[in-house]
Amino acid sequence: MNAFQILTVLSSIGVYFLIVLGGITTQTGSGMACPDWPLCFGELLPNLTTTVLIEMSHRYMAMIVGLLITSTFILAVRNYRNSKILLFSSAMSFLLVGIQGYIGMLTVTSILDPAIVTLHLALSTALFGFSLITAILALKTTYNVS
Ligand code: HEM
Repeated sequence: MNAFQILTVLSSIGVYFLIVLGGITTQTGSGMACPDWPLCFGELLPNLTTTVLIEMSHRYMAMIVGLLITSTFILAVRNYRNSKILLFSSAMSFLLVGIQGYIGMLTVTSILDPAIVTLHLALSTALFGFSLITAILALKTTYNVS
């Protein structure tokens, strides 16, 4: 696998676990463990109670996934411009991860408004879909997966 393919696969796996971590955040009632954003009680690493640990893991994991997807998009623009679908799906992932970061902030500042949390969940599944399409198309370029 080349660097681009590894990035696309890591992005999909990252989004998958981020969604699981989001579900754990909701189900353990950790959504308001950090009442502010982007820091937690004004700190990068606050006192780690279990709920703070869960909420902070979700945020830091989102940052890592954001970096992976941004790097994928940059490489797609530089090296895969001839594959319009690949370019489109990685651009959609890039757009959605940015929007998700913003909506993630709104989940906190709106004190878990159900409409915002539902939108957050809906966009995360779309993001997973596009990241998966990007990975499959990237693998197809070498392994000719049909
Ligand atoms: C790519 C980025 C992200 C994805 C894919 C994602 C995904 C999810 C998912 C699937 C849930 C569970 C929703 C539910 O159970 O209905 C969730 C919950 C949550 N997310 Fe994210 N998230 C992302 C980024 C962020 C960011 C940057 C923040 C910033 C604070 C954030 C804050 C939250 C909070 C507070 C909850 C808990 C909501 C509740 O308790 O009801 N998320 N996330």
